[in-house]
Amino acid sequence: MSFPESFLTELTARSDIVEVVSSYVRLSKKSGSNLFGLCPFHSEKTPSFSVSPDKQIYHCFGCGKGGGVINFIMEIENLSFPEAVEFLARRANMPVPEQENDRESKKRSRMLALNRDAARFFYEQLSAPGGAPARDYMKRRQIGRAAATNFGLGYAPDTWDALRSAMKAKGYTDFELFDAGLVRRGKSGGFYDTFRKRLMFPVIDVRGSVIGFSGRILGDGEPKYMNSPETLTFNKSRNLFALNLAKKSKSGYIILSEGNIDVVSLHQAGFDSAVASLGTSLTPEQARLISRYTGEVIIAYDNDGAGVKAAQRAIGILEKLELKVRVLRLEGAKDPDEYIKLKGPEAFRKLLEGSEDQIDYRLRSITDKYVLSEPDQKVAFLKEATDLLARLPGAVERQVYAMRVAEMAGVKGEAVADEVERRRKRILSAAQKREERTKNSPEHQLQPEEKSFRYEDPASAAAEEGLVRLIYLEPALAAEPTLPEPEEFTAPVLAHIYRVLLDKARRGDSLSTATLGGELSGQEMSLLVQLLQKPERLSGGKTALQDYIARIKDARDEKNGRQDLIAYMKKQREKMGIEE
Ligand code: CTP
Ligand code: MN
Repeated sequence: MSFPESFLTELTARSDIVEVVSSYVRLSKKSGSNLFGLCPFHSEKTPSFSVSPDKQIYHCFGCGKGGGVINFIMEIENLSFPEAVEFLARRANMPVPEQENDRESKKRSRMLALNRDAARFFYEQLSAPGGAPARDYMKRRQIGRAAATNFGLGYAPDTWDALRSAMKAKGYTDFELFDAGLVRRGKSGGFYDTFRKRLMFPVIDVRGSVIGFSGRILGDGEPKYMNSPETLTFNKSRNLFALNLAKKSKSGYIILSEGNIDVVSLHQAGFDSAVASLGTSLTPEQARLISRYTGEVIIAYDNDGAGVKAAQRAIGILEKLELKVRVLRLEGAKDPDEYIKLKGPEAFRKLLEGSEDQIDYRLRSITDKYVLSEPDQKVAFLKEATDLLARLPGAVERQVYAMRVAEMAGVKGEAVADEVERRRKRILSAAQKREERTKNSPEHQLQPEEKSFRYEDPASAAAEEGLVRLIYLEPALAAEPTLPEPEEFTAPVLAHIYRVLLDKARRGDSLSTATLGGELSGQEMSLLVQLLQKPERLSGGKTALQDYIARIKDARDEKNGRQDLIAYMKKQREKMGIEE
């Protein structure tokens, strides 16, 4: 743990969860002492997100997310534990104590320093004599000197160890270079530069740290882009190229494109809010990150089949966060870069101003699939279009677009509008039934919300959950001699939570979501909070404890018994010569 416990305790005392959550979620009183609101972590129509002022925790009955105030900030602001602590400290006007530099954060800052030095090295190579191939390529792509400086572009020379020797001269070791993804290991055990003969784009996070690199081949060839592997500092799905620049834009929207060259070219033409994902399609984490800086996203993906597919996926993800989404149609060009080169920045600006909203866009992609003069194709078109409109939340919107669809197909407006409403009712009631069925099914109630934590042995796991809950609520029980070892648990996730709780309780540390936040993952914390929702008999803590222990043992015996029986039957079969 890198923060003193007393500091964390005071920080959480000064960061009331109701106040903190209220600046993101509208909360209202519903039942008991808990407050309810619409969950900010998944999309829903009826509130299942609860906040308990007494326990200072939140829990969503829909998606299962939960935790204390620090977890909430980690989740919603997309921050690490120490960053969330700093965030809340700033809010509460508390000075953050000097972190006891644990190994991990030392390693991290050393890696950031290395990345920065590497970026500087690549940048210098651009003007060195050996940098001619990169300079030629940039000239060909019309990337100017100013853009190079703005983005810190660089060149990875065409040798096996230019970067490696330069960094070793600065005191970095091969292993540090390896951990940062800057060198690779050859078959014979030697190290060589990862990026060679590539135009280098440093990836800089919103705090201005160089966290990794993308390298583009100079010209044609595969792979076009090479990105840093996942490292202590680099996570592809949680960062976006050029967001460090785009976040400062005054445009009011973010332009999302596919390639780094597109981004550079857009910025160069004055569109300073362009970003790109790092070789994956847009992820929910990236969308959340974007939503911290803007309410509107304009998608400018490549004008090909893959681009259209990717745009449709991105629309879904962005809309969940209630971001306004528009999509550009880059007619006559393969991507934003080419569009600007062919038609100029003014044409692109016009496109931005007139770009379709996403319903238009989707309607048009449906229209493009059918020949509306053919009767059977017209029917198929109407079916698909009404299905799309039936899913729009706004009644006026549904009406307006129904009229448009009717016009396109040459049928009566009311007929389409009625069909849209009929479909909507069917969709809603089917969704409701589905939700009730899963919520009420016995397995669902016995299982954690998080799908990756399925219990293999629900009977034992229920008792294991009970032990975890008891220890959290009554840490003194951690001294009981009859407690099982974590290894005896059947559910690995509960075993880990249990171990962390026992260690802390036995050291005499306090157990709270704040002090556990550094050691439990977000999913583990959510599970713990979910467990705390169930009632516990605290008055007879010791009896309850023995009861849980007995149930864990019973489950184990039963399992062993079953296995004994299976083994016995197998032996009998063999004896009698029966084949399996
Ligand atoms: N890509 C990648 N890593 C990055 C950026 C992009 O792997 N850091 C991938 C994207 O997933 C996408 C493709 O590269 O498949 C984007 O290519 P493109 O838009 O063609 O890239 P540009 O840099 O714009 O190159 P070009 O000049 O050829 O348009
Ligand atoms: Mn491109």
